[in-house]
Amino acid sequence: MRAWQLEDFGLDNLRLVERPTPKPGPGEILVKVSAVSLNYRDKAIVDGVYNPEKMPQNLIPVNDTAGVVAELGPGVTEWKIGDRVLSHFYSHWLDGAPARDEPDWQLGGPLHGGLAEYMILEAKSAVPTPAHLTDEQASTLPIAALTAWFSLVEYGKLQPGQTVLVQGTGGVSLFAVQIATALGARVIVTSSSDEKLKKAAALGASDLINYRTTPDWAEKARELTGGEGVDQVIEVVAGDGLNQSVHATKAAGHISLVGFLGGQTAPLDVMSLLYSQAAIRGIAVGHRRAFLEMNEFIEKEGLQPVIDVVYSFEDAIKAYEHLARGAFGKIVIRVAD
Ligand SMILES: NC(=O)c1ccc[n+]([C@@H]2O[C@H](COP(=O)([O-])OP(=O)(O)OC[C@H]3O[C@@H](n4cnc5c(N)ncnc54)[C@H](OP(=O)(O)O)[C@@H]3O)[C@@H](O)[C@H]2O)c1
Repeated sequence: MRAWQLEDFGLDNLRLVERPTPKPGPGEILVKVSAVSLNYRDKAIVDGVYNPEKMPQNLIPVNDTAGVVAELGPGVTEWKIGDRVLSHFYSHWLDGAPARDEPDWQLGGPLHGGLAEYMILEAKSAVPTPAHLTDEQASTLPIAALTAWFSLVEYGKLQPGQTVLVQGTGGVSLFAVQIATALGARVIVTSSSDEKLKKAAALGASDLINYRTTPDWAEKARELTGGEGVDQVIEVVAGDGLNQSVHATKAAGHISLVGFLGGQTAPLDVMSLLYSQAAIRGIAVGHRRAFLEMNEFIEKEGLQPVIDVVYSFEDAIKAYEHLARGAFGKIVIRVAD
């Protein structure tokens, strides 16, 4: 099969090669890949800044995969050939509290991912594709959508009428806008671009803050909520901005600490957090049970993922370069028709 493999860190070392098509072992399925979507972690892995010591040489990167079951391993009863499936990122986290070793079972690094013509998934871990979505659309769900859902719903217990602040207009953030809007919440979104803010408004965001022209966006969010602050923040930036998120959150509100676009460490003003009694919750995408529940919701609401561009398999490098420049929503790579 043709596969992209990461022979060393750096985008120059991501190479399109021929590799043997894998055989599914007991409890495994072979998936013919239709499409994958990129997440920020895929770039961070290539750059060697995402758990570099855990990444094997010649890794096939990228978790988010949509495809069709092509072969069943011994003992598989959950699937039949031709079923449409999605990868589940924390492939062993099926429900309940996470185990300490969940990160060892992440697909797309350290385990092989889907940027190839075929991929092996564990039968008990794979997830059915929502019927109303194409494989290109559905390939955007496994990390970005589930992270937004897990933050807002599984941990955040978002209620209609509550207010959510979403940072930026990347993949996780736009799913957060769509899901929170569909749940009847008020959504405040920040972005560096007025044009992107307008597009976020079309997806349901009601309050828009340009964080370039309004660097004190947290104070603006307080103003917009009558001085109280928002019920939830989807924090994708962290770094120095984490204290601003505490400021933007109402007393005893909820901050989902999702991303590290602004840095992997964050100075914290302890007294502000203590007085506000806000909860900062680390987020690690989510478990399979929540993925199934989210897909039901997405089907019921008819949500359509926001795709910025679809690249061909041969143009995977261009897709990574686009991710580095920033996108509005998701970047997809079509692997097969
Ligand atoms: N913990 C988890 O489970 C989990 C899951 C998924 C992703 N993540 C992390 O979450 C972060 C976002 O991931 P993604 O895939 O959604 O990224 P992405 O699609 O690459 O989104 C990047 C967007 O973030 C916005 N941004 C950048 N710097 C910002 C800042 N200082 N303030 C506000 N917005 C800013 C920009 O939006 P504008 O262009 O509108 O300014 C940019 O387009 C990454 O750090 C990623 O690794 C974590």
